[in-house]
Amino acid sequence: DLELHTQLKELIPEKHGRLNKLKSKHGKVELGNITVEMVVGGMSGLTGLLCETSLIDPEEGILFRGLSISECQKLLPAAKPDGEPLPEGLLWLLLTEKVPSNEQVDSLSKELRRRATIPDHVYQTINALPVNAHPMTQFATGVMALQVQSEFQKVYEKGIHKSKYWEHTYEDSLNLIAQIPVVAAYIYRRIYKNGHVIPMDDSLDYAGNFAHMLGFDNPEMLEFMRLYVTIHSDHEGGNVSAHTGHIVASALSDPYLSFAAALNGLAGPLHGMVNQEVLVWIKSVVDECGEDVSKENLEDFVWKTLNGGKIVPGFGHEVLRKTDPRYTCLREFALKHLPDDPLFKLVSDLYEVVPPILLELGKIKNPWPDIDAHSGVLLNHYGLTEAQYYPVIFGVSRAIGICSQIVWDRALGLPLERPRSVTIEWLENYCKKP
Ligand code: MLT
Repeated sequence: DLELHTQLKELIPEKHGRLNKLKSKHGKVELGNITVEMVVGGMSGLTGLLCETSLIDPEEGILFRGLSISECQKLLPAAKPDGEPLPEGLLWLLLTEKVPSNEQVDSLSKELRRRATIPDHVYQTINALPVNAHPMTQFATGVMALQVQSEFQKVYEKGIHKSKYWEHTYEDSLNLIAQIPVVAAYIYRRIYKNGHVIPMDDSLDYAGNFAHMLGFDNPEMLEFMRLYVTIHSDHEGGNVSAHTGHIVASALSDPYLSFAAALNGLAGPLHGMVNQEVLVWIKSVVDECGEDVSKENLEDFVWKTLNGGKIVPGFGHEVLRKTDPRYTCLREFALKHLPDDPLFKLVSDLYEVVPPILLELGKIKNPWPDIDAHSGVLLNHYGLTEAQYYPVIFGVSRAIGICSQIVWDRALGLPLERPRSVTIEWLENYCKKP
């Protein structure tokens, strides 16, 4: 038995006790008022979900089980001295609340490699799609084809006690996390490299292997992929993909069904597709103004984008009120490894130019950049230039957070998520009341 499973099993009764105490002692405590604005405004500002894996502080950004990104960089095991954190370590942290040792992370890397076999019908299903189908469509289709293997579904059909749900959810989750980089790499090679597939390297870790299977063996790219997957893994429970995964799983849909649904949310231009949009937009700046664009010309281009009724992609995160620490950590990586990359310089200039313009517009609560404003130029630097594929890499990373959350949802016995909805007329009548 993997120690990960043992640690998780030990933590569940404690958390269960705390949740039950919260329900019985403080169940009626109010967490703020729900306003009409929130109901018609995408529930923005509404605290309405339980998610154990991570928490966003609007000023500080994401905390993974209480640890900031720089703490994760310091504390989580790496592939080499002073290297970037291994996503396996983050998965361990999200599931168990504990920072794993090098040996524990090693054992998890091995376990994920062991679980990474893909049944042939998955490739056949993907191959049934036109090669020019969006990579996210191919990815979600691949995950649905993997669902045939769901342990949870099989044992549920036989009838199991609900206290055992989390065990099978955990099995499915580890399998899914192990399998998806292989499927994602297959899709990349199918679309962009004439179907020349690169097999997994048994000596490599999770993210290193993903880069390798995509066709990138530069050690710096491997390090970047470890960092990328780690920091994209989770962003509390309210973002579209995590929320979708959680609500679908609340119907006791297995992790494959839930994650495929989450991916379809991640495929949207306001969520995981932003990173694609950012690189396309940055390349349109270069096409029009050249790589050496002056700050004045850059300002004009930003105004032109805004006056054309479009947004500057990658700026103005809904929840954050400062620069996303995930952006800052990518910026530090770029300053260390590719300070002279022309597109990185452009991204740096945008960091100076865009926020004052957005503030001048006056409508925005947060003018600062988030992770998506930066990730693409780094992938592009290492030769992964196909922006349409970027949301897939985000998706592989996000499985770690979403699946960890779903394991905990079942471990805590969280109920079906079923809020009430109302009509405009209902709201009008409600507001007329004295
Ligand atoms: C994310 O990582 O999910 C994005 O920053 C979007 C969000 O948090 O809503």
